[in-house]
Amino acid sequence: MKKPKLSVVGGTGALGSGLAIRLARAGFDVTIGSRDAERAKLAAADLARATGSDSVRGDDNISSARQADIVFVTVPFASQRATLADIAAAVKGKIVVDTTVPLVPPKVARVQLPEEGSAAAVAASVLGGDVTLLTGYHNVSAHKLSSEGETGCDVLIFGDDIGAREKIVEITNQLGVRGLHGGPLANSVAAEAMTSLLIAINKRYKVKEGAGIMITGLEAE
Ligand SMILES: NC(=O)c1ccc[n+]([C@@H]2O[C@H](COP(=O)([O-])OP(=O)(O)OC[C@H]3O[C@@H](n4cnc5c(N)ncnc54)[C@H](OP(=O)(O)O)[C@@H]3O)[C@@H](O)[C@H]2O)c1
Repeated sequence: MKKPKLSVVGGTGALGSGLAIRLARAGFDVTIGSRDAERAKLAAADLARATGSDSVRGDDNISSARQADIVFVTVPFASQRATLADIAAAVKGKIVVDTTVPLVPPKVARVQLPEEGSAAAVAASVLGGDVTLLTGYHNVSAHKLSSEGETGCDVLIFGDDIGAREKIVEITNQLGVRGLHGGPLANSVAAEAMTSLLIAINKRYKVKEGAGIMITGLEAE
């Protein structure tokens, strides 16, 4: 099967760069997005050097999303709405995977959900029905994604379109991370809230690489 072209909007940041490096190592064509095309190009050059990939480019967020079949969004909650509104026209008819966790500094170790109920609901309200919206990667630390080798934790993917969800689970499984179906978009809130719990565990137990989750009881284990 031909590999889809991917974009990582906000890919200059912690989670996005960790995701982009794994996607590039797995042989995907990746365009890193940034508000500043030059910053994205510099990040892409670093990534190309680190991975030896010749399929990594950088561009502004909108152009990056326009070039891709599937668009990952990796920006802070405070900039989620504005970023999604910026790329909305460019992602019509595409799969968008939003990784946003609704963290509200300074109390990021406390669950604080938005009025809409979840970051997934915020994304759905901004993007509307012309996009296949998925969410995921809420519970894997940027540190783990940026490191080499298996992360040793699971990544849950949520969305109402099971076929699209399966595509992202498959891509995730190619990254040294076990991807699992987390169910419909309504379930995203559980993983979003779990991140604050993991941050609390990181603080209490001084976990440097970031605590993660692993689902037990699966036959594939
Ligand atoms: N970090 C983690 O370990 C982790 C784990 C799981 C989930 N997440 C979630 O993943 C998302 C990204 O987290 P992160 O730690 O990677 O964030 P980050 O490094 O703070 O920011 C990611 C990128 O977002 C862009 N950005 C920052 N402020 C912005 C603004 N005001 N308006 C528009 N764009 C802005 C920046 O790109 P440009 O300046 O290049 O435009 C930045 O490089 C968050 O929602 C977070 O909760 C993070």
